[in-house]
Amino acid sequence: MRSEGTVLPRFGASPDDKFRGKHILSVKQFDRSDIDRVLRVAHEMRTVVDVVGSIDLLKGCVLANLFYEPSTRTSSSFIAAMQRLGGDVVAINEVRYSSVAKGETLEDTVRTLEAYADVMVLRHHEEGAAARAASVMRKPLINAGDGAGEHPTQALLDLFTMREEVGRLEGIEIALVGDLKYGRTVHSLARLAHYYDITLRLVSPPSLAMPASVLADMDALGTKYTVHESLDDVLGSLDILYMTRVQKERFANIADYEAVKGSYVITPKTMSGMRANTALLHPFPRVDEIDTAVDNDPRAAYFREIACGMVVRMALLAMVLGRA
Ligand code: NCD
Repeated sequence: MRSEGTVLPRFGASPDDKFRGKHILSVKQFDRSDIDRVLRVAHEMRTVVDVVGSIDLLKGCVLANLFYEPSTRTSSSFIAAMQRLGGDVVAINEVRYSSVAKGETLEDTVRTLEAYADVMVLRHHEEGAAARAASVMRKPLINAGDGAGEHPTQALLDLFTMREEVGRLEGIEIALVGDLKYGRTVHSLARLAHYYDITLRLVSPPSLAMPASVLADMDALGTKYTVHESLDDVLGSLDILYMTRVQKERFANIADYEAVKGSYVITPKTMSGMRANTALLHPFPRVDEIDTAVDNDPRAAYFREIACGMVVRMALLAMVLGRA
């Protein structure tokens, strides 16, 4: 019998149970061994998917998938992850068809949905919304993007993909390119790089530079990085080129967006300046940052990255529900 506030009965709790019943709000919660564990469990999940398609690990559990912002990959991969683990999903992908449209607060909405579910995934347009929601919840909440804040599950799936593509994470060189100001995926990723002695090349127009708060965290963590405006400065020495979309929806005025959109576009010519074994990643959606003519290049890894998303989210769901 479940008691309120705990997700599942605790059988033989171990250090590996660290995430059981916990919220996942920021990558700051993860130390090196936590990340290694997520990657290891995700690898096992991939084997499960490849060999048997699905298992009943989370049978009887329900996920509430609550999205206040558009999403294709994050939303569907959490749903697919839950289904492949034998669980069920209550999905609200369009809050305008829910009581949010009647003025219901975030707090009331999440307290309602947690009454039906064992775990919740939340995407919201305001930075800090995940922490705000979590503060009134008793069930675990996974942050699927809070405004320009963080996107921790994307950063973990990006690391998983990078290890698959390069063969290791230790000491690799990654360029983060595009909108480093508003791009929450790079805010999360940049805060994990130090664990693997990764060197970051931060490439953006000056107006879309990495926020001071993220740089301060990187400095405090001893992250190795350099700052550039031109992609050509760094193109030839990379293990990973990580492209991002200019986050149009976060600009206060459209003229500022127009001034920087299309700052960097990866074309077959760009690819010819890259090493033969540099992998090209992008969290997607892409707008115009990567020419579709690049898609058949074996170094274009973004569709493989998408597949990694589901297995990493299977691992995270199993971990917070204490069944990993
Ligand atoms: C990203 C996001 O929502 O932050 N997408 C995603 O989750 N894969 C990136 C983006 O919207 O540009």
